[in-house]
Amino acid sequence: MSIFTASEREAIRSEFPGMRDRAYLNFASIGPLPKRVRRKIDAINDTFECMNRNFDPETEAEAERARAACARLIGGEPNCVGLLPNTSSGLNWALRVFPRDPGDAILISDHEFPALRYSASHMAHFGMPTVVAPVDPRRGLYAEHLESLLVEHPEVKIVATSWVYFHNGFRHDLRGLADVAHRHGAYLIVDGTQGVGTRSINVMEQGVDALASAVHKWLCCPVGLGFVWCRPEHIQRFASPWAGWMSVEWHSQYGDLFGDLRTMTRGPRAAESGTPNFAGVRGLAEAATWIAELGTERIGLYTDGLVDQLKTAVDPDRFGVVSDGSPDHRSSIVCLRPQRTDAETVRTHLARHGVITAVREGAIRVSPHFPTESAEIEQLVQSLHELP
Ligand SMILES: Cc1ncc(COP(=O)(O)O)c(C=O)c1O
Repeated sequence: MSIFTASEREAIRSEFPGMRDRAYLNFASIGPLPKRVRRKIDAINDTFECMNRNFDPETEAEAERARAACARLIGGEPNCVGLLPNTSSGLNWALRVFPRDPGDAILISDHEFPALRYSASHMAHFGMPTVVAPVDPRRGLYAEHLESLLVEHPEVKIVATSWVYFHNGFRHDLRGLADVAHRHGAYLIVDGTQGVGTRSINVMEQGVDALASAVHKWLCCPVGLGFVWCRPEHIQRFASPWAGWMSVEWHSQYGDLFGDLRTMTRGPRAAESGTPNFAGVRGLAEAATWIAELGTERIGLYTDGLVDQLKTAVDPDRFGVVSDGSPDHRSSIVCLRPQRTDAETVRTHLARHGVITAVREGAIRVSPHFPTESAEIEQLVQSLHELP
């Protein structure tokens, strides 16, 4: 039985006119904007052009909708989500929200995307150095390894990891990592960017303490927006590391700004410190709601089918599959390492044949998503066969 019905497929594809003349297999870089998202953005920009209506109440409602949809995508509560400009802001928030004592440290693996690497290393200025653990990228961080790392480094109070590695698509066992981290008195912070929207996750069940994500990839949203989520029990205990005038509820009433200080919101919502990204918030509300309704469980199964189609068809003498295909660690990213030429040559050849991929760490990164058709994977396979 197919995962989406024919009419669902047709409706999905009609949202992506920009995917008509190319096989776009690069969602891990940037997802194309669906028409429904574009319409929302255009509508608010039209309002800004004319300044002909009060957009505040609608923006507040759309922000609520966006937080609720992001929460639904990860199995969290809407009041535990804050909308921030990108993953890095979310990671900075998460790295600072937990209390730290002198000598405490962060642990990351040596195969992290720079968003985490730089956010963590900057914490040294606030008295928190980073231990960078060398890992086999095919296994990432795993429970037994983390156990020995935390025995060796009892100073670690935050373990931070990608859910899915950007360069090979390896998906971490978050529950296993959370159990070990918690046993050693450490929190687990996750960069969810390469998984949120394309696989299902329940952060509460997985024991994650905080998760940050971008939305311009697998959530097909405008760039310049992301979100951070934090467990409800932490929100009551720890204050947001920053806040501002938009961290309180104004209910669109700005006539009395000198009055008594209002009650601060708590947790990630308080990190929404100033004027929000009006267009981005609307786009995120629309896209994340749509994707949540389509269902990340289904989307994950659908992309698994596309990835399997590619892996079965690719010539093993010419391309090594770098990505883990096991049910527990696979993702919607599959990477092929060319055996006879370099990855950039392959990427350029594919682009000339209308197939869009990316090069990451010497491999071709292919990242299909729910709008991708099986025929586009076939087009990729054909183009690979035609590689001189
Ligand atoms: C794992 C991961 N995290 C984060 C990002 C992006 O970080 P930011 O949203 O801060 O630009 C990317 C890719 O751009 C990524 O692959």
